[in-house]
Amino acid sequence: MALLYLSTPKRAAVWQKVFADVGEEMVIGEDAVKDPAAITHIACWYPPVDIARYPNLRVVISVGAGVDQIPALPGGVQLSRTVSSQIDRMVREWVVMATLMLHRGMATYIDQAARQVWQAHAGTAMRETTVGIMGTGRVGLPVARTLIDLGFNVCGWNRSGRPVEGMPVYGERDLDRFLGQTNLLICLLPLTDQTRGLMSSTFFEKLPIRSRLVHAGRGAQLDMDALHAALQEGRIESAMLDVTNPEPLPQGHWAWSDPRVIITPHIGSVTDYEEGARHVLAVIKADRDGCEIPGRVDQNLGY
Ligand code: GLV
Repeated sequence: MALLYLSTPKRAAVWQKVFADVGEEMVIGEDAVKDPAAITHIACWYPPVDIARYPNLRVVISVGAGVDQIPALPGGVQLSRTVSSQIDRMVREWVVMATLMLHRGMATYIDQAARQVWQAHAGTAMRETTVGIMGTGRVGLPVARTLIDLGFNVCGWNRSGRPVEGMPVYGERDLDRFLGQTNLLICLLPLTDQTRGLMSSTFFEKLPIRSRLVHAGRGAQLDMDALHAALQEGRIESAMLDVTNPEPLPQGHWAWSDPRVIITPHIGSVTDYEEGARHVLAVIKADRDGCEIPGRVDQNLGY
């Protein structure tokens, strides 16, 4: 079994050391592949264009938490996304920061500070604010727990309505009910055929007036024009986006200069080089032992 790793030289140097320490074989870059038949695992963000070149490929591993950039794989090839407690912590950190910022009206205060305006605004107590989290999996759950501990009312939404201890959870059929009580919406959903374009004008109309949006899912889930209209109507009061549509957000886009919108350039989570390498080692070991691979993605569901 050999791993083909497609990444930058800086990352590759760290991975090489981690792999050498445990005596695991690794090839860096397609140009270095002598025998394509020896490649059984590929770790990458984008897979090789000609994936059929690797007849014995068993698993493709996304070096990030998302897998939406990976096209359909040949039959029998498994897909894994990188799971690590470091990624979970980083996403939680960004989402909790964004939630608190919007909750305390920071979009307004950042704008006021740029104009040297000293003016206070009344806020709402946490216990009177319902935070609705879309996506209650590995990343969403710790976010929910932290926000509950801080004192927010928290509810969750996932496709199947799978219950989660300690908070009400709504499913696909109850989306309107979920949105109707959400004052601050957090999107942490993976990008799938079902979630592409989900946040549209009809979606935003279901939210109470003066809601806030924290988006750390995928840019393609958000209709930016619909967001603009919802901001103009006051349906949404402010938004903090780590992902945008398109990405990168082009210069001159309305969202850059709208004082109600705070943007970060998709930095919610960045996989630590060493943790990424360790995840791949764990995948290779599990595959060799005939066990379920960590981070296994159901390729029909897309997550
Ligand atoms: C970042 O968005 C990732 O998928 O790791």
